Amino acid sequence: MDLNLKNKKILVWGASQGIGLAVAKSFKAEGATVTVVSRSEEKLKKVCQENNLDHYIAADLSDVSSGVHSVEQAIKSMGHIDVFVINTGGPEKNSFENVKQSQWEIDFKSLWLTPCESLKKVLPKMKEQNFGRILLVSSIAAKEPLKDLTTSNGFRAGLTGLFKSMSNEYAEFGITFNILCPGYTNTERIQNLNLKQEVIESLVPAKRLGEPSELANLAAFLGSDKAAYITGQQICIDGGANKGF
Ligand SMILES: NC(=O)c1ccc[n+]([C@@H]2O[C@H](COP(=O)([O-])OP(=O)(O)OC[C@H]3O[C@@H](n4cnc5c(N)ncnc54)[C@H](OP(=O)(O)O)[C@@H]3O)[C@@H](O)[C@H]2O)c1
Repeated sequence: MDLNLKNKKILVWGASQGIGLAVAKSFKAEGATVTVVSRSEEKLKKVCQENNLDHYIAADLSDVSSGVHSVEQAIKSMGHIDVFVINTGGPEKNSFENVKQSQWEIDFKSLWLTPCESLKKVLPKMKEQNFGRILLVSSIAAKEPLKDLTTSNGFRAGLTGLFKSMSNEYAEFGITFNILCPGYTNTERIQNLNLKQEVIESLVPAKRLGEPSELANLAAFLGSDKAAYITGQQICIDGGANKGF
């Protein structure tokens, strides 16, 4: 299937490694122009060279103005944005009792406020061009709380409601809002947990970790004009880990 992404301009946040990088690579493989963002300029430079990605911008997405600036810079270098992939670093694990006010504030900015303020820079042009794709990398925690991922569980469930609301507001302008919920996915973040095979088997019916490319394939499809009638959806890429309907 030709996804018709060759002239499309893609901005992917949190893309110096892991899921974000896999998503950037999947759009690049379809011939799109891709800008990647993360905190480390050094890592970004390396992944751009290795994967032939077009532009990079170093920005800390827990800082609202820095995130908004990354969008403005991406618009400057690519002309406009057709697909905006919102992917920010995973929040720290803490039981409710141990979440400090500073963590609530940082995670609220990364997961919620920086994306919202940045969307205000992206959506007017998408409206004008009558095409836009907003993809949020969330988590299965948005559907079923994961132990001690307190801020992720709370904010991400709320973002599901927000995306549904925005999908209704923007559908008539050819702009779709969809959420990708990774389960246990083979990235540096999960590798650092050193999960034993028996633990993985107890959590995941498919009995293996997901590969970031498996989520990225879906992202490319949802970012294309083939997915024009799919909006307001939240899809798990999790080998069956989420047990809810
Ligand atoms: N992997 C999983 O199993 C899994 C499961 C459920 C949900 N998720 C969610 O999916 C998202 C991606 O996960 P991942 O496994 O790919 O994580 P990862 O391997 O830790 O990669 C995170 C990426 O985000 C960037 N980043 C982190 N904090 C940032 C910040 N404040 N500002 C800008 N960039 C930042 C990192 O680059 P720099 O260090 O260069 O900034 C890196 O490129 C996370 O939100 C995570 O919660 C992952």
